[in-house]
Amino acid sequence: MLFSRRICRTSFFSLVMYSFVTLKAAFEVRAPDSEMVGVHGQPVVLRCWYTPSSGLNGLVVTWQRAEDSQVVHSFYYGKDQLDRQSLSYYNRTRVFPTDLANGNASLALARVRPEDAGRYLCSVSSLQGTDKVEVRLKFAAFYTEPRLTVQVHPTKISFLYESKGYPEPEVWWVDPEGQNLSHKTEFSPSEGDGGLFFLRTHLELDYQNAENYTFTLRNRLINQVIERPVSFSTAGLGYCTNCPRDRLALLLPATAAVLLWIFIAASFYFHWRKS
Ligand SMILES: *[C@@H]1O[C@H](CO)[C@@H](O)[C@H](O)[C@H]1NC(C)=O
Ligand SMILES: *[C@@H]1O[C@H](CO)[C@@H](O)[C@H](O)[C@H]1NC(C)=O
Ligand SMILES: *[C@@H]1O[C@H](CO)[C@@H](O)[C@H](O)[C@H]1NC(C)=O
Ligand SMILES: *[C@@H]1O[C@H](CO)[C@@H](O)[C@H](O)[C@H]1NC(C)=O
Repeated sequence: MLFSRRICRTSFFSLVMYSFVTLKAAFEVRAPDSEMVGVHGQPVVLRCWYTPSSGLNGLVVTWQRAEDSQVVHSFYYGKDQLDRQSLSYYNRTRVFPTDLANGNASLALARVRPEDAGRYLCSVSSLQGTDKVEVRLKFAAFYTEPRLTVQVHPTKISFLYESKGYPEPEVWWVDPEGQNLSHKTEFSPSEGDGGLFFLRTHLELDYQNAENYTFTLRNRLINQVIERPVSFSTAGLGYCTNCPRDRLALLLPATAAVLLWIFIAASFYFHWRKS
């Protein structure tokens, strides 16, 4: 009798422990994507789910920056609470009240900016428990249509493409045989566009074979590929070092110099004759 009662008490204790553990484990906050990419000027949804139970009753949802605890958005007493929201998120955030009651605490962030990149904490408290999860937001900006400048030098020709975007893309130039060419590429912070990069890529070629080259830019983070062929035909241009026009260009200053000398010499002569 005593023996069985002890067993009974032990199993009751285990049952309580078990329920406590499962109840603790049962409330969970999860992020389906631990990393998201936000595109410059566009909206992004940071997804966060929790184990739903009692609707909005007792529900507190807070989105904060993990780095400095800035409040991005909070929701409790059944509505948005934006008194302590950081100014940099003003008028750009929302949660979805109808989804909220069903375990969806996702945050929509409008008009993404470079400073939005970083770590976000989704914290949820309900009558069932408290938990949080981190979501990382990466920033990207589509590269703009590249601007081409062609420069013709006496023996070389150079192509320059300029564009703006984020982050650093892969850039390459290939010749008609598909071989990579050596080129010069620089990235610098772009003025007036926050954290965007200004890209300049330069290809210099011999004058004779500046035909059918391809420039490619790839922004891997957002699967953006820009591919632009460039071609420069020398046919019909008749580039040469002893063309009549070039000779004329050399001849004119020489002739002018000779005439000037004759004039100076003549003036001296007449001056000498007079005196
Ligand atoms: C909030 O943002 C919207 C655009 O989504 C804009 O039309 C509105 O003027 C903004 N409100 C304030 C107070 O800045
Ligand atoms: C959560 O809500 C957001 C916004 O309405 C929606 O985009 C997302 O698909 C929802 N996720 C789930 C699992 O319901
Ligand atoms: C040229 O370089 C790019 C980027 O580095 C690379 O993806 C591509 O495979 C290279 N092509 C050749 C032919 O080497
Ligand atoms: C360059 O491309 C043009 C048009 O595709 C073609 O007509 C020409 O033959 C090409 N030149 C070379 C050298 O491949």
